[in-house]
Amino acid sequence: MVALDARLQSLKTGQPQQDALVELFTALAAKAHDVSRIISAGGELGNTIGDQNADGDAQKALDVMADDEFLEAAKVSGVVAAYCSEEQDSAVIIDESAPLIVAIDPLDGSSNIDVNVSIGTIISVLPNPGGDLQQSAMQTGDQQLAAAFFVYGPQTTLYLTTGNGTDLYRMDPVSGVFLLIEEGIEIPEDTSEYAINASNARQWFTPVQRYISDLLLGDEGPRERNFNMRWIGSLVADAGRIFNRGGVFLYPGDRRPKYENGRLRLIYEANPVAFLVEQAGGAATDGTTRILEKSPTEIHERTALVFGSKTEVRWVGSYEAETRQGLDQSPLFSHRNLFRS
Ligand code: F6P
Ligand code: MN
Repeated sequence: MVALDARLQSLKTGQPQQDALVELFTALAAKAHDVSRIISAGGELGNTIGDQNADGDAQKALDVMADDEFLEAAKVSGVVAAYCSEEQDSAVIIDESAPLIVAIDPLDGSSNIDVNVSIGTIISVLPNPGGDLQQSAMQTGDQQLAAAFFVYGPQTTLYLTTGNGTDLYRMDPVSGVFLLIEEGIEIPEDTSEYAINASNARQWFTPVQRYISDLLLGDEGPRERNFNMRWIGSLVADAGRIFNRGGVFLYPGDRRPKYENGRLRLIYEANPVAFLVEQAGGAATDGTTRILEKSPTEIHERTALVFGSKTEVRWVGSYEAETRQGLDQSPLFSHRNLFRS
């Protein structure tokens, strides 16, 4: 089996930003091994430490530990100019002349830490275009050189793209070596499985409310078949399932205060997941706009996120379009068809 190191070496092109990815992911993978061991050992790391992160979420000891570890990895790699993390108010400047910018969610799904459910680390890698590094973190997702997430679960896995397909690696728990187990993952185009936190249903806007209620009608509704629902509550774990067997994930905006753009962050959650998903043949939007085309205006900006099997992401887009056009208010509006319009 091919190890991550060997595979990264083979991707070298002689282009400095591209080649720097080898150093970066070697350092990140070594830290992911450490973090996965700490998580498996258990202990007090799920404890809330009384602080809030830049986005107002309660910080846990493990959030802070993971952030320290991955910041250290970014430093020792020698290729990172700036490190933008969910756990830091602004970009940490490491070396202005280095070729890469890293945006990271060091510990995703932290509400699942203390219950032994899969959690992970999400990474977006951007080129350093020079100039003000706080500003340079605000590139569109289309500029990403690489994106990845580690999942710390029954197995520790890595989903990685450098823009040439999405590959899946599994870590050998003893040696910490990541071995390639699937090259060029393909997310099935069609699916009958969806993921959404349904406890927010009464707060959703009309298009998502209509889309989900049509799924719930199953074979008695306009979709004429039954759908299954899965919601793990860690983005990395829900995304991992979708890479493996398809599905559609929604974290839409809703009517709760501060949730009009959903909950997930554009530059270190939605962008890397969207890049990985598109590289695996899936789609990722905020309901209407392709995630990778959105221009961030601040590091911790949120976005609605819909991703996964292409056909369902298109269906969500069609409900959004009908609401925009006022079609769902029409007395003639009843039976719908994606391919009508
Ligand atoms: O990072 C935010 C996050 O923990 C994601 O991993 C997950 O998808 C989402 O929040 C869960 O949100 P909620 O608790 O609102 O269902
Ligand atoms: Mn997260």
